[in-house]
Amino acid sequence: MQADRRDFIKALGATAACAGTGSAARVVPSFASAAQPENRLEGIEAFAFDAYGTLFDVFSVTALCEELFPGSGTALAQVWRAKQLQYSLLRSLMGRHKDFWLVTEDALVYGSKSLGLDLFPARRERLMEAYLTLAAFPDVKPGLEALKNQGVKLAILSNGEPRMLEAAAKSAGIDTLLDAIISVEEIKIFKVSPRVYHLGLERLQVSRRALGFVSSNSWDINGAASAGLTTFWIQRTAGEPPEELGFAASRVVAAITDLAPLVRG
Ligand code: LAC
Repeated sequence: MQADRRDFIKALGATAACAGTGSAARVVPSFASAAQPENRLEGIEAFAFDAYGTLFDVFSVTALCEELFPGSGTALAQVWRAKQLQYSLLRSLMGRHKDFWLVTEDALVYGSKSLGLDLFPARRERLMEAYLTLAAFPDVKPGLEALKNQGVKLAILSNGEPRMLEAAAKSAGIDTLLDAIISVEEIKIFKVSPRVYHLGLERLQVSRRALGFVSSNSWDINGAASAGLTTFWIQRTAGEPPEELGFAASRVVAAITDLAPLVRG
């Protein structure tokens, strides 16, 4: 591999890791509750969850990337995710919205070109299809079930295009636990626009105090906190630093299963 390509990939990997999206160091958390009774929050009536990286493991496509492109699977999965996020931010700044399915496909095309991989149509289709059946993290279903049993409203609030979110939720077996799937397609601008987080409040019809926004992506937490929401950062990798954007999470927990004890009445 050429030195400049190696450096480029390293830089993208670092971007992904900083965005809380790196795969190598990602550790599946234990389900032991970190919530202390004194940390409980009063009055939370609904949780809105980020989708990609929080509920669905975007790096579960790595195995298929590796099968199709032996030796380049991890690099492709990382560039794919990093570019997907970068393109969403760039398009919002440019005022040139395109839905997240198409942005995800553009990122895949760029990623394969940058690595010199031949993404012929059948491969492209298989990789895109894989995005509809991403694995859910193991804490997702039990965590959502515990909250549902407490009568908390549950929703997804995501950059994702509605059909891709619905397919992933169904495939992960969590669709029946959700009261709403809220997509930025309603307003055609991506996170971290404050309009996205305000859309969550409007659609769930709860007060600002009563909504908890949950994400494993620290940049997303900063965006939601900046927009005035109560935020819960799922710090899936112990020691992962929060982004230096100035809007810290209201609470930091290790897994979605830690949320129910925090809001139990
Ligand atoms: C989401 C991504 C971008 O909004 O994490 O689901």
